[in-house]
Amino acid sequence: MKIAVSGKGGVGKSTIAAALALTLARKGQRVLALDADPDANLACALGIPGTVKISPVSEEIALIEERTGAKIEQYGQVFKLNPDVGDVAEKLAFSHNGVELIVLGAVKRGGGGCACPENVFIKALVNDLVLYKDETLIMDMEAGIEHLGRATAAGVDVMAIVVEPGQRSLDCAKTVVKMSNEIGLKNFIFIGNKITGEDDKGFISEELGVRSEELFFLSYSEQIRNSDRDGVSALDGMNDEEISVIKKLIDVIME
Ligand SMILES: Nc1ncnc2c1ncn2[C@@H]1O[C@H](COP(=O)(O)OP(=O)(O)OP(=O)(O)O)[C@@H](O)[C@H]1O
Ligand SMILES: [Mg+2]
Repeated sequence: MKIAVSGKGGVGKSTIAAALALTLARKGQRVLALDADPDANLACALGIPGTVKISPVSEEIALIEERTGAKIEQYGQVFKLNPDVGDVAEKLAFSHNGVELIVLGAVKRGGGGCACPENVFIKALVNDLVLYKDETLIMDMEAGIEHLGRATAAGVDVMAIVVEPGQRSLDCAKTVVKMSNEIGLKNFIFIGNKITGEDDKGFISEELGVRSEELFFLSYSEQIRNSDRDGVSALDGMNDEEISVIKKLIDVIME
């Protein structure tokens, strides 16, 4: 099962991705969590102490150079567009509470679109994880779908889009749906996060054009917010009701 979690900045993508990953791991599944957001913070949401430094894939210069045959700092060279990455997840993953975390990191030049060795390597890795690895994969994406090419998208089973009750996050969600549709991604699940009342649910349902019963909602919670501050996992900050929403989300995704 391959799940991508997307949505506007700050809506709760990492919180929900971490809760999903930890819950699946507790059920005994092998879970790979992929932090695909250049502004990476999934480690923190998984409860990995801030003192632990996880080296992002984008900074594995020696490995990228070895596999692509390129020199990172040089321009205009010929290098492999299909580097061998089959063993990279195993090499670089950081294991925590049953979840294997891989942080992609930010490519420092040219943005995600450029065909530099770092991006080629990262794209090949994402493709490998989505299409050829059996583990359950949870991807914490940035607002866009930068890392998902057409071929890779075919392997993503569900795009989980997180929104909060606000126009900007809903506009972003609609853009993500449109972009996902364009690359052939068809299964969406919407999670309304930081809900404070029925009005919020109604607003989100109306904006998305999806009936309330088909949406998932998580309340605004001080404990969830504090889990971030206190460096404990997002799941540890959730009460029974919130955990049951996460479990139900998993059940629906598995269907
Ligand atoms: N249901 C909630 N109630 C209260 N606070 C929440 C809730 N969900 C998330 N938060 C808080 O909102 C903040 C942003 O959450 P999170 O980091 O998960 O969002 P994000 O979408 O991953 O952000 P970014 O785009 O910066 O990566 C965090 O401080 C988090 O603890
Ligand atoms: Mg995040």
